[in-house]
Amino acid sequence: MTGQLIHLNTAGAGLMPAAVSTAMADCLAREAATGGYETELHHDEVLQHDVYRRLGRVLGADADDLALFDSATRAWWRVVSRLDLGPDDLIWVTPYEYAGSLIGYFNLRDRTGCTIETIPLRPDGNLDLDWMAAHLSDRVALVSVTHVPSGCGIVNPVAEIGRLLAPYRARYAVDACQAVGQLPLDVAEIGCDLLTGAGRKFLCGPRGSGFAYTTPELRAALLPDFTDLHVARVSSPTAVTVHERSARTLELGERSTAVVLGLHAALGHHLELAEEGRAFPRKDVVEALHACVAGLPGAELLAPGTQQSGILSFRHASLSAEQVRDGLAARGINGWKISGDHTPLYLSARGVDTAVRLSVHHYTSLEDVEALGRALHGLR
Ligand SMILES: Cc1ncc(COP(=O)(O)O)c(C=O)c1O
Repeated sequence: MTGQLIHLNTAGAGLMPAAVSTAMADCLAREAATGGYETELHHDEVLQHDVYRRLGRVLGADADDLALFDSATRAWWRVVSRLDLGPDDLIWVTPYEYAGSLIGYFNLRDRTGCTIETIPLRPDGNLDLDWMAAHLSDRVALVSVTHVPSGCGIVNPVAEIGRLLAPYRARYAVDACQAVGQLPLDVAEIGCDLLTGAGRKFLCGPRGSGFAYTTPELRAALLPDFTDLHVARVSSPTAVTVHERSARTLELGERSTAVVLGLHAALGHHLELAEEGRAFPRKDVVEALHACVAGLPGAELLAPGTQQSGILSFRHASLSAEQVRDGLAARGINGWKISGDHTPLYLSARGVDTAVRLSVHHYTSLEDVEALGRALHGLR
């Protein structure tokens, strides 16, 4: 808890620690006083190296395999849009896919003639890994798994899926937008070719920050695309030389120095908390959140699957999601109204138009959840 506010909307954007807002404010002040390019030069080591190294420590990745963007979607589409797909190829998605990614996959399908299939769920809401094992073949060109979906808190078994896929040609893309910062992540253990995320959620970094991890093999197989001046130069009147092999080739040169410095500070803060064993939502707090909402008369939990994260969504029999969000806000608690069509293959498919999403983080205490319980019971 920060001051009087109880922030249960980290799945929207986490509360930035002071180190982040200070780094950003200092940067803007320095830019105004000394110039934007001069400020960039001043922070050169952090901007060109340290921020990638810190992100690498969070993800278990080599700094050369990381690229920064202004959103998770931009990071993801910069790679996925360049996959070399054709009419014989299959893309597998899960019912927990983020709607923005589905739009991209539909676009790819219309452009390349590939087919999209949805991995089924077992009755308990877990992904049906037996179905995957039985149907996997080298026709599957891409498997896309959302680690923790936007609209409900299931934690999908990304490492187990990685092991299933390993003998096949399928590329493996993991959307870790809601996972990074709230669960330990290791790209080698997951065995993915692509992992994307945002800085603003459980990493508590600034808005307008995102990243992609890609393997060198995946980058080498991408269809050619524009490469910006920070990694390439026009070496003759008709030719370009790319002087970089790292994932930086996916980026554009221009970006907000303040945002990158803010992300750097957020990663540092996260790593410090991780060393002290308190970077992630506490298990007892997650359990208390579930018990609190389950005990609310009229609440229907949207919590499929065995393993739950710090995100919990629910519908109320007589109160709209908007009424719950606004009622909580009036009591100093941030919750959020979500649209089912942001996770359409799961929520819309079950007739959920809107729901309330509550998300806890390392800064949420049991007392906060107790206060939530009192506030929820007081809503009319
Ligand atoms: C699971 C998931 N994937 C992807 C995204 C897209 O992230 P961004 O808004 O940074 O593009 C979100 C955003 O909420 C999300 O929850």
